[in-house]
Amino acid sequence: MNKVFFYTRQQYFKFKSSQLAQGFEFLSGSTFDHIEYIKWLDESKRYYVDITSIVSLLKANESQLYLFERLLNGFKDNTTFICDKVYEDDVKYIFRNVLDDYSDVEIECEEIPVEKDAASAGKFALVRKITDLNDSELTKFFEDFDTSLYGHQQFKEEFQNLVTSFRVFNRLGEHKILSLFLMGDSGIGKTEVARAIHKALGSNSKLAKINFGNYSSHDALNSLIGSPLGYIGSDGGELVKRVCESDVGIILIDEFEKANNAVFNYFLDVLENGKIVNSQADEYDVNGYIIVFTSNITKDNFESKISPELRSRFDYKGVFNLLTNKDKQKFVDFRVNQIISKYKEFVSDDIPESLFDDIVNQIHVSQYKNMRDLNKKIKDTFVSLISYS
Ligand SMILES: Nc1ncnc2c1ncn2[C@@H]1O[C@H](COP(=O)(O)OP(=O)(O)OP(=O)(O)O)[C@@H](O)[C@H]1O
Ligand SMILES: [Mg+2]
Repeated sequence: MNKVFFYTRQQYFKFKSSQLAQGFEFLSGSTFDHIEYIKWLDESKRYYVDITSIVSLLKANESQLYLFERLLNGFKDNTTFICDKVYEDDVKYIFRNVLDDYSDVEIECEEIPVEKDAASAGKFALVRKITDLNDSELTKFFEDFDTSLYGHQQFKEEFQNLVTSFRVFNRLGEHKILSLFLMGDSGIGKTEVARAIHKALGSNSKLAKINFGNYSSHDALNSLIGSPLGYIGSDGGELVKRVCESDVGIILIDEFEKANNAVFNYFLDVLENGKIVNSQADEYDVNGYIIVFTSNITKDNFESKISPELRSRFDYKGVFNLLTNKDKQKFVDFRVNQIISKYKEFVSDDIPESLFDDIVNQIHVSQYKNMRDLNKKIKDTFVSLISYS
């Protein structure tokens, strides 16, 4: 006899991403409209087959019960069935002759009541978004954001105005996602914007990040949202996985220019509808999210690479300038202090009093454009001074 796990709508994505991480594959019962298809399954793999669609079909019309009983009996031990808990009673009755072992999935997901439309869209109430913050939380958010990101004063002011307007129009249902398209030289804080928002929203999870530099342009959409429906071994894509793993409403899309037209069109939809859908038709509500797109293209290339439809949907599109020497100096002071205090905590607090000044005096910020190079210089200087002390 076979086992069934029941999941609730709130648990599903977390359950799925945790099981994908353990090597399970997810398939819909509808993939097996012919019993022969079971032969395609790889005996060395472990599968979850979701029988929700089969149960809802049989509930309306039991005439095919015989075929589906045979189908469920045909799976080997490497397959476990899963089903939406709303069908629990139906499953237990309809498949009384083939299933007898039932449990609920064990994934903690508090079922907090959320706004009506959100509940029906299946989003996690636990995700903290910019649209959820009250006024004092918002003030604190901007303070934290400003401290994490050095320079880019003009952007920061525009960002505040955009957020203020977004919070109003999101509530009116007119603005689903706040999208920022950041261009400019390497190592000046484009990706850092997303990290700073993520931190200022108080996240305890990893930043939901997709980097198109890691995908071949040819199958970028498949990597993003999974292979076409029904294809065995399809995993539902990286985007839903990353978003499910995160506890805050921010998504980072790095090196966006390296994607292709199919991906650009996909994001056109996401920005318009506030929903992420993957190839398996799993839907994830990202209404109220901020999406940061970063790119190294120039302003001119931006116009030739990104279609006018998509361009016009970005709420902010701008080129980040190099940091001023003053801002670079702030970065140096912060990093040196950070490294010294970590060193004291984890290695030894026996360091010269003057270490901070000695490091800072050896670094001439005007020689650096890319903060990664500056960071490397800070580390090298630290190591050289600490080894001679
Ligand atoms: N404005 C900034 N404020 C704070 N830290 C910064 C800033 N700019 C750069 N950094 C630091 O430098 C590192 C590199 O910056 P970041 O990742 O944002 O680069 P980027 O602009 O996205 O460049 P690339 O186009 O190469 O991805 C960051 O991890 C951060 O530590
Ligand atoms: Mg970057």
